[in-house]
Amino acid sequence: MIKAGVVGWPIEQSKSPIIHNYWLDKYDINGSYIKISLNPERFTSGIKELIDEGYAGVNVTVPHKENALRISTFATDRANKIGAANTLIFKDNKIYADNTDGTGFIDNLKNSALEWRANVGPAMVLGAGGAARSIIYSLLAQGTPKIILANRTYERAEKLADIFGNKISVIDWNNISIHLPKINTLINTTVLGMVGSSSLNVDLNTLTSNTLVTDIVYNPLITPLILKARKTGCTTVDGLGMLLYQAVPGFKSWFGVEPAIDEILRKKVLAEL
Ligand code: ATR
Repeated sequence: MIKAGVVGWPIEQSKSPIIHNYWLDKYDINGSYIKISLNPERFTSGIKELIDEGYAGVNVTVPHKENALRISTFATDRANKIGAANTLIFKDNKIYADNTDGTGFIDNLKNSALEWRANVGPAMVLGAGGAARSIIYSLLAQGTPKIILANRTYERAEKLADIFGNKISVIDWNNISIHLPKINTLINTTVLGMVGSSSLNVDLNTLTSNTLVTDIVYNPLITPLILKARKTGCTTVDGLGMLLYQAVPGFKSWFGVEPAIDEILRKKVLAEL
């Protein structure tokens, strides 16, 4: 039996087992995928134990993503540039690290908004945390000519911009509305709009219907941002797809099948939110 799982601290909230176990069942694969709770002090030794137990690999979530990259033997260019890994593959006692968050983000947009192109105009990214970093990497890799970055804490956005160079322009959180009319793709990478968080407190009145709007928040599925964009006539893409698409490369590496994302899977995950 092929064994995999997801490592985090805490791990109870993870939806990854629903996704991978759905695919194991769908493709009739003799495999398992479980939640593994490891506190940060135990991360490195815990991963070694999983390797010794014959695991094929694991997904890694908060707070271990940077450490996962650090302990790897080899890492993809995208994991190195993002500075974190969410997917580890164990082979011949070596650890291969990848980061599939950004590619999950892009694959979701490509599959949900068929007309959308990353390279036809500037993107605006709201937020400057780990999610923003993987999304900026992927947008640039897809040819986005310019990225306007806004974050509550300006300095944090500047630090992120330094990593990616002169295609990134940092703007003040209060100036978002000035730049919105020119934007091809608007992405919320902050927690704002999520159940239990405050709502996105920015002026969206200058948004036009030419902008594709997406949110990485998927609980609720229709965030206030998505609702406002729909009312403006924008194409919108919810955040659940990113969660589903980021799981594809890991599943393929461990279990040998490229899994498809279907409506049953979306419904299964939604039912557990
Ligand atoms: P992740 O790694 O998942 O992206 P994170 O590093 O905690 O998470 O980043 C969360 C993002 O949400 C940050 O951009 C944060 O802004 P700060 O850098 O100023 O903290 C943003 N965020 C969180 N609460 C916010 C709020 N009330 N208003 C505006 N932005 C907020």
